This record gives sequence, structure tokens and C-alpha cells, in this order.
Amino acid sequence: MTASATGPLGGQRILLCVGGGIAAYKALELVRRLREAGAQVQVAMTAGAQQFVTPLSFQALSGHPARTTLWDSSAEQAMGHLELARWADRVVVAPATADLLARLAHGLADDLVSTLCLATEAPLAVVPAMNHRMWQHPATVANVAVLRARGAQVIGPDDGPLAEGESGPGRLREPDAIVAELASTTAVQAGPGLLQGLKVVVSAGPTYEDLDPVRYLGNRSSGKMGFAVAASAARQGAQVVLVAGPVQLETPPGVRRVDVRSAAQMREAVSAALPADIYIGAAAVADYTPRAFSPNKIKKTGTGETLAVDLVRTPDILAEVARREDAGLKLVVGFAAETDNIADYARQKLAAKRLDLIVANRVGVPGAGFESDDNAMTAYWPGGERDFPPAPKVRLADGLVELVAQRLQA
Ligand code: PMT
Repeated sequence: MTASATGPLGGQRILLCVGGGIAAYKALELVRRLREAGAQVQVAMTAGAQQFVTPLSFQALSGHPARTTLWDSSAEQAMGHLELARWADRVVVAPATADLLARLAHGLADDLVSTLCLATEAPLAVVPAMNHRMWQHPATVANVAVLRARGAQVIGPDDGPLAEGESGPGRLREPDAIVAELASTTAVQAGPGLLQGLKVVVSAGPTYEDLDPVRYLGNRSSGKMGFAVAASAARQGAQVVLVAGPVQLETPPGVRRVDVRSAAQMREAVSAALPADIYIGAAAVADYTPRAFSPNKIKKTGTGETLAVDLVRTPDILAEVARREDAGLKLVVGFAAETDNIADYARQKLAAKRLDLIVANRVGVPGAGFESDDNAMTAYWPGGERDFPPAPKVRLADGLVELVAQRLQA
């Protein structure tokens, strides 16, 4: 069986992790369907999965030896497990048992499959299959919510007859339907996306700088602009890491999200996500943070009418990233939130922070900038500029990602 480059999953490298449930036999059919849809497939199995289906069957269908343990030195020599985690454009766990979902939600790495899922930066899809009472148990519900919040795509389960004569939600979705759902989150179905194969790190949202256990300094960024950019880059085939400040937004499909609170944490998370091909700093990072955090609530003093808080500058994450020579970056994009003199300030930041592109938006006006669903912006780069007239942030993000792809070729 050969993979077709033009199928709905054309060219994608899928690591299929098979969990230990009776539905594991359907994962054999899934391998066939994924390959017919154009994907290259490698398989890793839990110990439980091997009780239901043999690695040899997966080898015959996928064209690659199925990986079964972390401790196989010959398999490790051919392709180390970390290399396999990097090889994948996408990781699909099917069937995802209740136990496997719990281990993934808690970040365990005590066998090959859980280690691969923790080590990969590729988007994760889980296809649950289990007894309906296990699926509806609050522990499983909570574990699935954690995985969803981190950006995992949850496919199924279906409602219907289960093993042991029971019936209810818990059936593995049929292989054709799984492929259709995976394809629906593949951005450009007839060919590679504009950012196919590239890794993009996006920062979004505000940072909160804690003064004491009760109070913090923050700003009005909702994260909408950065989340829209992350979603658009993922739709264009990029592997996206979204470093998000405290916001109330769903993780876009196919995006790996890292939640942070303060500027210091954002700096740490961005640095850990590098190397990457593109960095897009859409976050409204606090410029100042309290010099010292007070472990006790700061009290009103008897007579004092004013309170002075000593603030220190935060590190400029964007400028640091742009200076890093070991980060592999081909393009560094900043945002500039300005109230006036927009073009001048934006161009100054472009030069001072050594950026390839800066996107300026006017803030402090209704219908644009912070919190709003819409925005209007102008992108500047050395020797050029482009206006993006008022539009929903999701549409502007698509335009920006197209511009980013063009600037990469320049
Ligand atoms: O989140 P929304 O409600 O959708 O609003 C979107 C937005 C207005 C927040 C967004 O479009 C935007 O303009 N983000 C950047 C806001 C900002 O902090 O601008 P700035 O001019 O202060 O910073 C310039 C650039 O340096 C930004 O890319 C910022 O991420 C980066 N920076 C700033 C300070 C710092 N310590 N580290 C940084 O990386």
C-alpha cells in the first residue's frame, strides 16, 4: 500500500499510539485508512495493546516495525524514541483507554507511549474507547478536559454496543470517521499549507505581575489576537506552540498550549519552546514588575494617603529572542500597541528590537486593539508596509500569516 501525497492527509507523518483495549483490533484498519488518506504511519503500542493485537500485524500494515518498549536497543539504534517523537507531524492515540487518558493528562512517562506523547511537540489527537461507566466517571471527564484545554483533539467516542454486552458512549469511532475528523483539522487539504513543516512559537494574552497574594498588575489583553494567529498558523500546517498568559480562551485545534502568568514565566516558556522557525510576539507583556513580592497582604497604613510600589523592568522577551543566534529563527515578528504616532513608534521598535516584521495596532479606540473581536493594523518591515483594514481578528490573523509566509521567501 502506498501513501498518496494528494489524499486528505497527504504527506503527514502520523505516529499512531495504540492503547490496551479490545478496540485495539480496529487500530489495524485505522492504519490502512490513514495510509489511504496519504499519511505515513508509524505505530507504538502499550504493553496492554500487545495483549490484543500483535506488533507484526501493525508492521505488515504500516510498513515499519511497530515500537513496543523503551528498552529495545536495536529499535532505538534505528530511530531513537525522541527522534520518533520529533518525526511525527501528529500523534494519534487510538484506542485511548481511561488509564492512558489519565496518564497523558498527568504527564506520566513510564512507558514508550506515554513518553512519546510527553516528548513530542506535534499536535495530539485522542480517540477514546472504554466502558461507558469509565467514560462518564468524573475522573475521566476531568482528564479529558485537561487534555482538551492543552489543545488535544478528542475524537468520539460513539454511542452503541460495547464489549460484555453493554451499551452506551464508549465505542471507538469507526476508522473512516477518525480519518475524516483528522482531515477536518488539516488546514490545506489539497497540498501543503503556507507554513507546512515549520515550527511557530506564538505568545498571547497579558502577563500578571503579583504584588501580594491578593493583588497583581495586569493589562486588558484578552489573548484573542494571539490565539487567532496561532490557530491560523496551525491551519497552514505549522507546528505551533502557544505561550498564553492568563486568558479565558479555548486552545485552537492542533496547537500546543503552555499557560503562564508572569513575564518571567513567559520568558522561560518561550525559551523552552525554542528552537523554532518563527516567533510571533502578540502578548502584552508587562514592562514592569514589583521589585519584591510581599508574601502577606499589603495593609493600608493608618495615615498614608498614597502607596509607592517599587517596580523594576521585565526582560524584553521579544528583543532577547531576536538576538538569539542558537534559536534557529528565520523570522521574528513583534506587535506594537500604540495610541498615537503609530508608524514612527512601530518602526522604532522594529529597529531597536531587531525584528523582521512588526504589526502595529491602535489601542484605546473602540472596536480595535485590546479585548475587541476586531482589529485594524499595519505591518512594517525594512523597506515595506501593509495595511490591514478593520476586520475580525480571526481574518486579520489569516492575512498576517500569509504575509509571514511571503516575508520568509523574501
Ligand atoms: O489580546 P487582545 O485583547 O486580542 O489584544 C491584542 C493586542 C492589542 C494585545 C495585540 O494585538 C498587541 O498589540 N500585542 C502587543 C502589545 C504590547 O505589549 O505592545 P508593546 O508595544 O508594549 O510591545 C512590543 C512588543 O514587544 C510586543 O510584541 C510584545 O510582546 C513584546 N514585549 C514587550 C515587553 C516585554 N517585556 N517583552 C516583550 O516581548
